[in-house]
Amino acid sequence: MLVTSRSFDEYVAMFDLDASNLPAKILDCCAGVAGFRAEAARRGSWAVAADPAYALPREKLAEMGRDDLLRGSAIAGQYAGSFTFDWYGGPERRLTLRKAALAQFVVDLATNPSSFVAGQLPQLPFRDMAFDLAVCSHLLFTWADQLGLDWHLAALVELARVAAYVRVFPTVMQGPGEPVPFMDELMSGLERDGLRVERRQVGYEFQRGANTMLIVSRDRTRSSPRPA
Ligand SMILES: C[S@@+](CC[C@H](N)C(=O)[O-])C[C@H]1O[C@@H](n2cnc3c(N)ncnc32)[C@H](O)[C@@H]1O
Repeated sequence: MLVTSRSFDEYVAMFDLDASNLPAKILDCCAGVAGFRAEAARRGSWAVAADPAYALPREKLAEMGRDDLLRGSAIAGQYAGSFTFDWYGGPERRLTLRKAALAQFVVDLATNPSSFVAGQLPQLPFRDMAFDLAVCSHLLFTWADQLGLDWHLAALVELARVAAYVRVFPTVMQGPGEPVPFMDELMSGLERDGLRVERRQVGYEFQRGANTMLIVSRDRTRSSPRPA
């Protein structure tokens, strides 16, 4: 699995956020070496980044981020017909954004270490509803060839435990962007667990056709998440 460094601008587009009016408390879960936390915090949000990779030394994380920048570009090259650079304006711009985000991450991690939590889905070390919004970029669904239905269900229930709203992007698998084989079953499972699910189109696309995010929230019209 790659440890990637998407930028704040990519997050805003993927998750259809209003950059000038971000939620007060945000969790970036599976944040990798992304620049989102740094910029969200700079804009006044209380933002926390969680990732199991934060158990590693800082220098190792930066090294992995640099290596995976190249590996990510190689994957895009391998499946060239399956990717579009329209949103970026070209491959160079994508690389520029990713490099700048990695640099921002490295400074942020050194400056605000307590905002980076070594945590791992499907069990996070946060209290119920600690966040207004949790964003999850390129872990769920992306790696659905390795992480199955039960794991996804448990991960989304956990994210919806710690945040009022959960946004996940993309909703297809890595590489050429094949559909997730258990998506319908997953949606039914979430609804059975008392969660509200919505798939919404966004203005960002890199894997061709992958322009939909999933929104999950606790359905507060139900008195109990699991009626007997
Ligand atoms: C492809 S990277 C995405 C990083 C960042 N969100 C981005 O979009 O650039 C996937 C990240 O998921 C993290 N990860 C792997 N297993 C995880 C788990 N069980 N819970 C949370 N994060 C996990 C990896 O360490 C890696 O940093």
